[in-house]
Amino acid sequence: MENTKLDSFPPKGIHGTLIIPGDKSISHRALMIGAISEGKTRINHFLWSEDCKTTMNVLQQLGVFFEKNDSELIVHGVGFEGLKNPVKPLEMGNSGTTTRLLMGLLGGTNFSSILKGDSSLSKRPMDRVAKPLSKMGIKIEVTKEGTLPAVVKGGKVKGTTINLQIASAQVKSAVIFAALQANTETTIVEKLPTRNHTELMLQQFGAKIVTEKNQKTIHVEPTSKLSGQVVNIPGDISSAAFFIVAATIIPNSKITLRDVSLNPTRTGILNILKKMNADIKVRYKENQGESYGDIEVKSSKLNAIEVKEEDIPSLIDELPLVALLAACAKGTSVIKGAAELRVKETDRIATVTEELSKLGVDIKELSDGMIIKGMREWEIKNNQLNSHGDHRIGMMLAIAALRTTNNLYLKNANAIAISYPSFFSDLKTVLNEKV
Ligand code: S3P
Repeated sequence: MENTKLDSFPPKGIHGTLIIPGDKSISHRALMIGAISEGKTRINHFLWSEDCKTTMNVLQQLGVFFEKNDSELIVHGVGFEGLKNPVKPLEMGNSGTTTRLLMGLLGGTNFSSILKGDSSLSKRPMDRVAKPLSKMGIKIEVTKEGTLPAVVKGGKVKGTTINLQIASAQVKSAVIFAALQANTETTIVEKLPTRNHTELMLQQFGAKIVTEKNQKTIHVEPTSKLSGQVVNIPGDISSAAFFIVAATIIPNSKITLRDVSLNPTRTGILNILKKMNADIKVRYKENQGESYGDIEVKSSKLNAIEVKEEDIPSLIDELPLVALLAACAKGTSVIKGAAELRVKETDRIATVTEELSKLGVDIKELSDGMIIKGMREWEIKNNQLNSHGDHRIGMMLAIAALRTTNNLYLKNANAIAISYPSFFSDLKTVLNEKV
């Protein structure tokens, strides 16, 4: 099994400027929305990661053609009607976003598709998508555990009102993709507002989607024609977060992250960091409805934090990092209302607790979160860390290792390529930058 030696404490801190790779959520959506549009969609700063390549491969199996040149990725859209019956099962790899969003999109076709996933994805709940889509007349067969493999039986889609019981942008986006192909308007009511990249991008491509002021009620009109566009993808704040946290918890650090997504449905980590007393400056710019900008971070002394259910959707993928921040802060932090972590690429409450405990962090599992006592120094109990095949756990541990002077090793580090293939080279850049 692959075992990667992690970098340890850098006495001079981390420094320099990084351009963070493209946003994963927006990259998936640019491929899918480009595919169902007419004409070409030109994508700049696309994220070439394993998950996004999965979406591309699946769309190719559905008859979509892609072209790559030096600076951009071009999607040759086929329109809703142009998607072709796949000859083989669609391989979804590790990607929940590909699977769930495509269920809604395939629901309106005139063919059936079989969806398969790797061992981690095959444990994750898909009935949360199948159920709301069944209310729209779409038949999806999943296993009796509600998991993959699934059969999506394309057919006629009925517009209706869908009340979502789980705060999930993937489920919401699946319903939106189905609603575009429905006979009449669909209204979606979310439990809590979740990331709105699907809505913003579809508006740019010509769909009629209106979100009410409460940010939770969305009206989608059926749309037969979308037109190809230029999509400029900002850096992924969920990837930037690893370096934001690193610069915060490693003394003597100062880094700048350029052109990072600052969509307010994604910036919960910045709000939490500010509440913990982090030293962060943000300069906003705007791009096709998606905010983005530069983030400057300096090291600082942190206070403990309480994270509640309503905070979760805007920092769902950053919660492993919040646990690490809490382990470096003064006082006891509590994360609650985060049961969704149990159904991510791994059970992240279990994997974060197991791995940070190896570093001597005082951390306890709750059914829906964690309690973490901050400490000045950790007493390492086991130097063999494990990503458990989960990209975000692997990167969080590589950042945690920078707080220690011990030799630490990471098993399954290759999982990091799921969302951030250049993570270790970016880390080298900020570790080696001259002060
Ligand atoms: C995503 C939504 C979130 C997030 C995932 C990407 C998306 O999942 O955790 O990494 O692109 O819509 P949920 O919708 O399950 O919360």
